[in-house]
Amino acid sequence: MSWQAAQYLKFEDERTRPARNLLAEVNLSAPRRCVDLGCGPGNSTELVAARFPDAEVVGVDTAADMLRAARERLPNVSFIDADIATWRPEAPVDLFFANAVFQWVPDHLDILDDLMDHLAPGGALAVQMPDNLGEPSHLLMEETARSAAFADAFAGKTIRRAPLPAPRDYVERLAAKAARVEVWHTIYQHRLADAAAIVEWVKSTGLRPYIEALPAERRHAFLDAYLARIAHAYPPLAGGGVLLSFPRLFVVAVRRQR
Ligand SMILES: C[S@@+](CC[C@H](N)C(=O)[O-])C[C@H]1O[C@@H](n2cnc3c(N)ncnc32)[C@H](O)[C@@H]1O
Repeated sequence: MSWQAAQYLKFEDERTRPARNLLAEVNLSAPRRCVDLGCGPGNSTELVAARFPDAEVVGVDTAADMLRAARERLPNVSFIDADIATWRPEAPVDLFFANAVFQWVPDHLDILDDLMDHLAPGGALAVQMPDNLGEPSHLLMEETARSAAFADAFAGKTIRRAPLPAPRDYVERLAAKAARVEVWHTIYQHRLADAAAIVEWVKSTGLRPYIEALPAERRHAFLDAYLARIAHAYPPLAGGGVLLSFPRLFVVAVRRQR
């Protein structure tokens, strides 16, 4: 699947808000090494680098277009083309920051647990993931794909990503190595221009695998059918626009002193 930086950054301010909120909960005074896992076009990396100007900051991603955009944006930061499921730093780091990426990584509890071993004592693992599979925006992708018009194209295919583990699973899994584990949800309410803007938003993330599973000549019809459902589920606000409700799960674990 190809990740496109320009499409993703259409909603940069809204998408970066959870990264700002996550970073605000990281209580490190002078970290020396910080890693932004799933750094995308560098928007989250920029926040980490600005907050900790004396730290060495590294971004890790697999998408060529995202890495290109990130390198252009932050020429003084190193960006590594690697899969965060297997990539590990050569020496312990003080911060693993991962905004909006681990929802795409299967069995990520195992990976987060393993990353704790690569933190310096007192270091932090800070993760945010969309927890929105139960929202109309996502339920309606699946409904459109299974509707009579498209069922043939999606027959036998699982497109939907796996739901996140429960909050208690993160606490139980990370507690053995952590001095402190904080888990919380925030539901963002994004006011967007109209229903079409919701489709634009999810086009670069959750909707992308559905579109890519279709032959080019059927993609427009799929987007139209999805948009019609979205317009019904997100009626206009009195003052204009629509409200996209977007729950996200946050996890911050601080490595125990050995
Ligand atoms: C939704 S974007 C998040 C970008 C940025 N961190 C932010 O805060 O907006 C997710 C990024 O994770 C990357 N990604 C997804 N799975 C990955 C994996 N297994 N290893 C490395 N990067 C991955 C994608 O290429 C994409 O750039």
